[in-house]
Amino acid sequence: MTKLYKKTKNEIAEVANALKEGDIIAIATETVYGLAGDATNESAVHKIYAAKQRPAVNPLIVHVSSTKQIERFAVINETAQKLMDAFWPGALTIILDLKNSHSIAPSVTAGLKTIAVRMPNHETFLAVSKTLDKPLAAPSANLSEHLSPTCSTHVLKTLNGKIDGILEDDDACLVGIESTIIDTTVSPPAILRPGGITQEEIKNILPTIHHCSDDTAIKAPGQMKRHYSPQCSLRTNATSIDADEVLLCFGKTSLTSKHKTLNLSKRGDLKEAMHNLFDALHVLEDFVEKKNLKGIAITPIPDIGLGKSINDRLRRAENIKE
Ligand code: TXA
Ligand code: MG
Repeated sequence: MTKLYKKTKNEIAEVANALKEGDIIAIATETVYGLAGDATNESAVHKIYAAKQRPAVNPLIVHVSSTKQIERFAVINETAQKLMDAFWPGALTIILDLKNSHSIAPSVTAGLKTIAVRMPNHETFLAVSKTLDKPLAAPSANLSEHLSPTCSTHVLKTLNGKIDGILEDDDACLVGIESTIIDTTVSPPAILRPGGITQEEIKNILPTIHHCSDDTAIKAPGQMKRHYSPQCSLRTNATSIDADEVLLCFGKTSLTSKHKTLNLSKRGDLKEAMHNLFDALHVLEDFVEKKNLKGIAITPIPDIGLGKSINDRLRRAENIKE
């Protein structure tokens, strides 16, 4: 049974207590919903991998509400400190070296000597984390390789009955896609996954930043090419539409689908498009399935700034049905 919690003071305390007992609970962040469990409890972490059917080689991000919590298990280097000062709390995950002695459950890091850490910019998540005062492992709250969730209905679509609870908090995922991941244990520091914070914003703080291409980013286990995918075919950079496709557009366009058309941002705003991306894909995925159509066509998204993060997700989504 998946218990639904409300974000009242009492129920937030209940959630923290349940996590302490080893439950796994979906909690919203400003990026996407995370499936949270106590990162120091190996059996809770196992439950996360099992519920998501996630390969054991794909390490989890650990979420904290203070840098003090990090000091118990990882080394905050100078580069990381600069990034934390500039972007935390926020949509940036930082890879750090693990300390020799720590109590993080081994499967969180899938055997690596490094660990991914993030302080989310979301009041409710931070309140749970502060009450529990333990690092929270939290991958996105969806079955592996499916679309990421930005509201509780998306979580229930693939995880209902497989997780202990959901802290309901819709309209929370303002950013709308996952955090940017940056590895500060290599020189120069490297962006492993584009996300809610752009390469340009990071370059203002770290001019030497390096962006890993799809081929080199395999260093980040789990940066699989297939990911974030709807259960139907998806065609990006579409300039025409087939009879049995639905349409997802960006900005002004004369294209429409006779079945269903959604627009990520009529005014061509990449931030708005990013916020709407996963919800639009969920709606279209459900519609295609219900009406037995072929798939989703998507008009081109400019490959600049946040558009790079959107296109990264779409490329991976497109890869699933080959
Ligand atoms: O916005 C987000 O980042 C969301 C919310 C819930 O915080 N979380 C999220 O987690 O996207 P997940 O598990 O779906 O993605 C974690 C990715 C993995 O695919 C892996 O590539 C990378 O983080 N990762 C984790 N630990 C790593 C490490 N030590 N070195 C390199 N990459 C790592
Ligand atoms: Mg994910």
